[in-house]
Amino acid sequence: MIQIDRRHFMASIGGAGAVGAMSSEARAEALEAYLVERTTPQQAGGFPTREEVLAQITTRPYRRGVGNLLLTRDGSDVAMLEPMPERPTIEDFFEHRFQRTRNHCFQSADRALKNGMEEEIVLACLLHDTVQELIKVDHGYWGAQLYEPYVPAKTSWAIRYHQALRFYADRENGYLYPDLYHRIFGEDYVPEPYIREAAEYASRHQWYMYARMVTVNDLYAFQEGVVLSIEPYLDILGRHFKQPKEGLGYDSSSVAHMWRSIAMPDNPL
Ligand SMILES: [Fe+2]
Ligand SMILES: [Fe+2]
Repeated sequence: MIQIDRRHFMASIGGAGAVGAMSSEARAEALEAYLVERTTPQQAGGFPTREEVLAQITTRPYRRGVGNLLLTRDGSDVAMLEPMPERPTIEDFFEHRFQRTRNHCFQSADRALKNGMEEEIVLACLLHDTVQELIKVDHGYWGAQLYEPYVPAKTSWAIRYHQALRFYADRENGYLYPDLYHRIFGEDYVPEPYIREAAEYASRHQWYMYARMVTVNDLYAFQEGVVLSIEPYLDILGRHFKQPKEGLGYDSSSVAHMWRSIAMPDNPL
């Protein structure tokens, strides 16, 4: 594993004050970017090549597809999780388990709301990355599956296809390929064929704009220091989220185990 010079890392992102003001997720991203920069020769545009990104794999004690709840990425110990209520609701999950994804999702939903988008789209933005608490790899598919029994079909469809559409610009509708992806996938990364096929399928579909709008609002949703709450979305959740009376994880649905895994990630089996 790479040894981190803590002082050098802190200085590189603006000192202890700046670090203290960052969310844990932002800190983890900064650390990851720092490691990539420190260990790869810089390209003209400041982005690593695909080969350099792949060379990082064996320098970490974890794989990048693992969910936020399952580890810390700065090598510190994980925190004790708060117990969940007996019949947990989606609001409970936001409060007690979605701590590293929720602010990004609130910012994304806030933008969708301000842009006057349909409630199904606002809801998709609100939920779109929350499954990354459990697993990051192929998060569009995992996320769509997690929410499918509880939200309108257009909403879970948008969550599924936002993942693939993030790799393809749509200037007309205000979506450009993000610099972040040059950084985390490598500047010459070519998406796998299944991603390209999913994006092509989605772009021909009558619900294309539902998924595309998740990507449009996603792009601008990483703002430091803007901490939002679930409050503005309670009505939308009330109208569109079918909260099971037994609680998420206990309704015998085909995805109940996914909710239990998020609620109890410390269970060894
Ligand atoms: Fe996403
Ligand atoms: Fe996102």
